[in-house]
Order: sequence, then C-alpha cells, then structure tokens
Amino acid sequence: MRVRPRPGASPGVAVPRFEEPLLLPQRPRRNRRNDVLRGFAREATLAQRHLVLPLFIHAGLGREAIPSMPGCERLSLSELVTEATAAHAEGIGAVILFPKIAEDLKTSDGAECHNDAGLVPQAVRALKATLPGLLVMTDIALDPYNSDGHDGVVRDGYVQNDETVRILCRQALCHARAGADVVAPSDMMDGRVGALRAALDGAGFVEVAILAYTAKYASAYYGPFRDALDSAPKFGDKKTYQMDPANRREALRELALDEAEGADLVMVKPAGPYLDVIALLRQHTALPIAAYQVSGEYAMIKAACHNGWLDERKVVLESLLGIRRAGADLILTYFARQAARWLRDG
Ligand code: PBG
Repeated sequence: MRVRPRPGASPGVAVPRFEEPLLLPQRPRRNRRNDVLRGFAREATLAQRHLVLPLFIHAGLGREAIPSMPGCERLSLSELVTEATAAHAEGIGAVILFPKIAEDLKTSDGAECHNDAGLVPQAVRALKATLPGLLVMTDIALDPYNSDGHDGVVRDGYVQNDETVRILCRQALCHARAGADVVAPSDMMDGRVGALRAALDGAGFVEVAILAYTAKYASAYYGPFRDALDSAPKFGDKKTYQMDPANRREALRELALDEAEGADLVMVKPAGPYLDVIALLRQHTALPIAAYQVSGEYAMIKAACHNGWLDERKVVLESLLGIRRAGADLILTYFARQAARWLRDG
C-alpha cells in the first residue's frame, strides 16, 4: 500500500481525508508484518541452554505426587536417574536437587545436611555415575533438615547467622565430595558466599562454582515448595533473613557483597514479580544472572491452565521469555522439561 502525500502536506501527522491513508512518518507495524521481519526485529531469545530443572527427591521408593505442584513429584534415587536421563536427552543441561528429609532425621542444627551417606550426596553420586555430562547443582540451606523449618539454626527465637554459616560450609563440602558442580546457597545468611568459597578452595574444590541466591525475597510464592519438602517454618516467617519485597536498592547491596565474596553466578528469586530487580542487576554486574521461577508461579499457571483459562504452552513460553528479556541468563523453572520439548518442536 503506497501512501500518497497530498500536495502541500507538511511532514508529520497530516490530517487526511477519510478515504486516504494516514500520513504517518513511522509505522512500527511494518516490522511485524510477517515471520521473517518479526525474526529480524526479535530481541530476546529463549533456548534449551537457558533452562535448569529443579528436582525433588525423597528416601522412599517410587514417585510421590505433590498436590500443590501438579506434574512435579518427589523421586526416589532410581526415579531421579530415570527422570534426569529423560530430561537430559530432551536438552536439559542442568538440574538442581531439593531433598525431602524424613522427620526423624531433622534436628535443631540440621546435622544431616553434611552426612556423606545422606540423600543429596547419594543422589549426586548416582547422577554423576550415570550422566557425567549433566551439570548437577545442590541447594545449600538448612530448612529441609532443620526441626524448626528455618534456613539456619534457631536460638532464642532468632536464626543465628555465623553458627549457621559454619554448618553450611560443611554441607557444601559434603556436596562437593559427592561430585556437585555448583552449590547454590539459598539461605540468605550474611557472609556465606565468602565462607563457602574459602572452605571449598581450602579443600581443593576450586572448580566447584557458587550460584548465590543474591536477591532472595521473603515471598509468599514459596508455599507449594514448602509443601513439597514439608519444610515450612514451625514458627514465624523468614523476614529476618530473606529480603523485604519492597526493596530494590538492597538488591544492589547484596550483589556487591556476593561479587566481592566470590560468587560465580547471582540469582533473583522469585522471577515474575521481580523482573525489575533482574533488570537492575543486569545493569550492575558482568556475572551471569539466574532467575528462579518459583513454585507459586508454577502453581498459578498450572491451576489456570487446568481450568482452561490459559493456554499452557503459550503462557509458559511467554513467562520464560519475559524473564530472559528482563536480563536473566539462566532460569530455574519447574516447566524446564516441558519448555525444552516445546522449544525443540518449535
Ligand atoms: C529454601 C528454599 C526455598 C526455595 C528454594 N530454596 C523456600 C524458602 O526459602 O522457604 C523455594 C523454591 C520454590 O518456591 O520453588 N532454602
């Protein structure tokens, strides 16, 4: 369609007669006319290599459904290997493990977290033996092991910082001995990244990387995850260590500390409600940024799709692309396997 300027029309938006095309200097829609042009104009990308699959494990047999996270299950060690093998074959390069620890193994100091014969080290060894090319990440925090359901040791009603950090170092060393590639402290204790780096280096694990949960917010979106692990705090909440959802500048403060202490990758969590924080960190760090699309974000999408209110494939891929557009390099998401399949099938 050719726009015919009226004789004597001045540049800019002319007022046409109603049968004439508007005389517009810019028509952004021209770049959206077809797939090829849209392909030229496309900015953000989403590929299998950006995805990390979180997996829940338990000491029992078989698979256990998690009602608030339909499609996710707690896996026995052999089911874990089966699941990871299938996911790896579909293009998933990395998994992160979260254990459900039996009630009778939980203590106030969470000592089970550094038991070399415990569930996580066993799982890491099983994965590494079967799938040496799969990157294995582990969670560093006490909540699955702690009888108080907190990420650290509770004394006088307060989560103790330094005492917890010392236990987290033992946990990270235990995971490193089992063969973990990346340890991911999600506890939000002060100084833990530097302490973990020193402990790992001191034991010769200089190649084990640290994915720091840098801006982890005290969020209501973790509810389904705490169901999955039976790890909800027994009293109070996590506001004395996780960040206030109102804060952005504080994320920069945490970033500066984690970088100085030797983090290899930094994380924002949750993802969807905190895209501005991802974008902010993107402007202030050269490190890769991870974003965690958490259990509550997963559950919301699943519930709406189950009711037929949203198209699951489209909305999942859009939610992940939005996280990438905000500036995340890698995304931890319970949709990783589905997304990998959809990305492969185009
Ligand atoms: C705990 C931990 C949590 C998640 C990852 N590690 C929950 C919490 O902080 O209470 C949440 C992940 C999710 O909701 O998917 N260290």
